[in-house]
Parts: sequence; C-alpha cells; structure tokens
Amino acid sequence: MVKLSLRELYLDELRDLYDAENRLVKALPKLAKEGKSQELRSGFEEHLEQTKGHVERLQEIFEAMGEKASGKRCAAMAGLIQEGGEMMGADFETGVKDAALISAAQRVEHYEIAAYGCVRTWAGLLGESEAQNLLQQTLNEEKETDEKLTELSEEINSDAMGGASGKTRMQDEVPRPRGKSRSAKA
Ligand SMILES: [Fe+2]
Repeated sequence: MVKLSLRELYLDELRDLYDAENRLVKALPKLAKEGKSQELRSGFEEHLEQTKGHVERLQEIFEAMGEKASGKRCAAMAGLIQEGGEMMGADFETGVKDAALISAAQRVEHYEIAAYGCVRTWAGLLGESEAQNLLQQTLNEEKETDEKLTELSEEINSDAMGGASGKTRMQDEVPRPRGKSRSAKA
C-alpha cells in the first residue's frame, strides 16, 4: 500500500475543508432565517460573507500548489449541518430556538478551528508560507466568530431561561463595585 506523505495529508484535509466551507455557504442563509434575534441573524449573515472569503482563500492555495480546487465530502460538516437542521424543526419556547442555533453554530466553529489549526501548522512545516498566512487569517476569523457567539449567548440564554427571571439572574451575577474595598485598603 502507498503510504501518504504529510503533503498528501495536507492536501486531503484542504479538500475536506473546501467541501465543508462550500456546504456552509449553502447552509448559513437558512440558519440566518431561523434566528429571532436581529443581532444573531446579522452575525450569521456577516459570517456568510467571511465564509465565501474562506472558500476563495482555499482556491488560492490550491492554485498556488498547481492543484485543482475540488472538495472531498466532509462527512463531519454534513452531519453537523444535518443535526442543526433537524433541531430547527423542533417546537421551542420563546428564546430557546436562538440558544439552539448558537449551539449548532459553535459546534461548526469548533470543528473548523481544529481543522484550520492543523492545516495552518502543516503549511508552515511544508514551507508553504503564503498558504500558512492565508490559513491563519481564516483561523482568526473562525475564532472571532466563536467569541461573538459566546457573547451573544449571554443575553440569548438569559431570554431562553424565561425573560424577566433570566434578567434577574444576570443582575445577581454582576460583581459589586470595588470602590469600597479599595478605599478600605488605602
Ligand atoms: Fe470558515
């Protein structure tokens, strides 16, 4: 049996990512429509534009390697999108659907963060510095998206907990002003 080199593994995983990103370009508009929070919807729309850029970066990398830009079915992303879609069919209490959307989106982001982290490192080892740079840019955007989702989840999870009671809970968690203890120390 032929043994795969690191370069072949790298190319294989780039093809997997190319398929994954193209699937997301199709799925994100559908997910965006499901969101009740305007901020969440616009977050999905913004990430759709970024995702189109991720596809273009991968195309650029294939081209520089003299390889055809083609994907290899990413069963993991197909599964994550399918699960997210199935979840959207459920009947949720107010606010809970947005919490479910965030959960589905963060699973996708974490998968991509893991995959881009690996190919970025391999690009560096293989001396593909331009590709390394492009993959790092995409990795940074995936991480930023994940962080934005976490921020959005704070309010959305509170709504999902049941509006007013959720807000009270959040207020209870606000730390006390630290002015007093500082002046006590002085
Ligand atoms: Fe992406």
